[in-house]
Amino acid sequence: MPTAIFISPDGSSAEVDVPVGTSLMHAATTHGIDGIVGDCGGAMSCATCHVFVEEQFVAMLPEPATSETQMLDYTAAPRQPNSRLSCQLLMTDELDGLTVRIADPQL
Ligand code: FES
Repeated sequence: MPTAIFISPDGSSAEVDVPVGTSLMHAATTHGIDGIVGDCGGAMSCATCHVFVEEQFVAMLPEPATSETQMLDYTAAPRQPNSRLSCQLLMTDELDGLTVRIADPQL
């Protein structure tokens, strides 16, 4: 099963198994990763699942939909070029090792 690595604002990291087709937000909340809130459950209406994707993975991800891009304008932490909503990042075998930094704050 592919894994994802979440890097917390304090620099600590956690590696979790993420079933193919599962969102990073869902994997994070299931595994109790602090800092990923996911208030709306993935309906793209809260922006509390904000992450910064490590550079080597950015081009491997599908482009954000217009609705994700618009929602990224409402993140609590300033948006960066590698900002994504983790509820929209679905795991694939090719993304094994996907590494993201958790934005802080989320609210
Ligand atoms: S969980 Fe609400 S926008 Fe991602």
